[in-house]
Amino acid sequence: MSTIWTPDLTAFSGPKYQRLVSAIEQGILQKVLTQGSKLPPQRRLADALGITIGTVTRAYALAEQRGYVEARVGDGTYVNASPVPEIGNVQLNMATCQQPLTDQISTLSDCLSQLAKDPTKLSQLLGYRASPLDQHQQVFNQWLNQRGIQQTPEQLIFTHGGQQAIFACLSAFLSTGDVLLHEQYSYPGVRICAKQLGVTSIGVPLTHEGVDLARFEALVQIHHPKLVYLTLNNQNPTCIQYSESQRQKLLELAEQYQFYIIEDDVNYCLPEEWHSPLWQLAKQLAIPRVIYISSLSKLFSGGLRQGFILVPEPLIAQVRLAIHSQCWMVSPLNIEIACQLIKKGQITADRDTIVRQRQRLCIAMGERLKLTQTWRGLNGWLQLPEDIKAHHLVTALAAKGILIRNGDDFNCHDNFIRLSLGGAENDTQFQHAIECIEATIHSLVQNAYSVV
Ligand SMILES: Cc1ncc(COP(=O)(O)O)c(C=O)c1O
Repeated sequence: MSTIWTPDLTAFSGPKYQRLVSAIEQGILQKVLTQGSKLPPQRRLADALGITIGTVTRAYALAEQRGYVEARVGDGTYVNASPVPEIGNVQLNMATCQQPLTDQISTLSDCLSQLAKDPTKLSQLLGYRASPLDQHQQVFNQWLNQRGIQQTPEQLIFTHGGQQAIFACLSAFLSTGDVLLHEQYSYPGVRICAKQLGVTSIGVPLTHEGVDLARFEALVQIHHPKLVYLTLNNQNPTCIQYSESQRQKLLELAEQYQFYIIEDDVNYCLPEEWHSPLWQLAKQLAIPRVIYISSLSKLFSGGLRQGFILVPEPLIAQVRLAIHSQCWMVSPLNIEIACQLIKKGQITADRDTIVRQRQRLCIAMGERLKLTQTWRGLNGWLQLPEDIKAHHLVTALAAKGILIRNGDDFNCHDNFIRLSLGGAENDTQFQHAIECIEATIHSLVQNAYSVV
């Protein structure tokens, strides 16, 4: 390479040599390092980055071990791009709620390498098991306790993602013709589950602090639901967070009308945004009417498919049976990887900083455009002015390679869009997306008259 490739190691976590390997991976994914190109000589890169040559040697060796590069004796180190998976969609995806891809690949790679060297552990993971491994339950148990979510190991049931957790709960307790109440605008996956089971799903109107309680109670009185599905911490798509009084009242209603609340806490919040779950309040108030669902999908990556349910004791057997009927058991290999990530403290790594910064940029854009907007975690929910239709904006941006979500996808027909922050590969690409969205909104306002 003529100009020396100098990655920004502060964008990654872990020891310096690992950061450099992550930077090589990202360089390959983003095609900054193309197949066959030569990495900088080790000494020059060490000087440029202000690190020791030993660190660079170690990073290059690890990158070679992973198949990303090839060292040619007396010549140098060359990029061997093919083994690193391509990011599936070349378009800039702000439609899918996902974490920015930073060092997830190298972290996962380390976990897999470690596992590959441990035949005793591997043999434990290969058998059929009626119950999860004790050590896996302990890791999750401790991790959740640290987050202030108390449970016994028996109450913790692993699933393949939050989606299976929802389906398992619905199939365990509802039959054809039963009613499920959920928020009026909701994650479409819950409606898919209800439909599959012949369950009638009814949306409850939302206020800015959660479901409209008067309408909710009226619907409960009419339909006598056994289950209610709610997303209290970061409502998808509206980003509403339920107030304290709303949470208390919901628990009182659950006790009064004897229904269970499925609390879906899959959606990521920044640490300062997150609220202790209803599960915990239910425990404190001794009203065991909450089933808690979460996953690592929005903390680390969706492809891991690692989710879990916390279940009040009397319901454990039914939920376990539901999982058993769907997949016999959740892959212990998956759970082992999740446990390693948790033990290494690598679940969210340093991505909070990126998410926070991207949120700030988006909020500033929304303010410049004078849009009504709410942001939480990875998502933003924005209402467009009347003269721009959400579907026009979605189509215009798709033509420019930027995917965003139309509020219609969540059954909201009031001209909203949902933007998700994780899809951009780097800050420059993200900045470009924001500028493009802003410019497109301006041009749509100006061209509104052209609809004939
Ligand atoms: C509210 C909500 N619940 C559950 C899920 C599914 O989670 P998972 O990917 O862990 O299956 C999603 C995914 O977007 C979601 O938004």
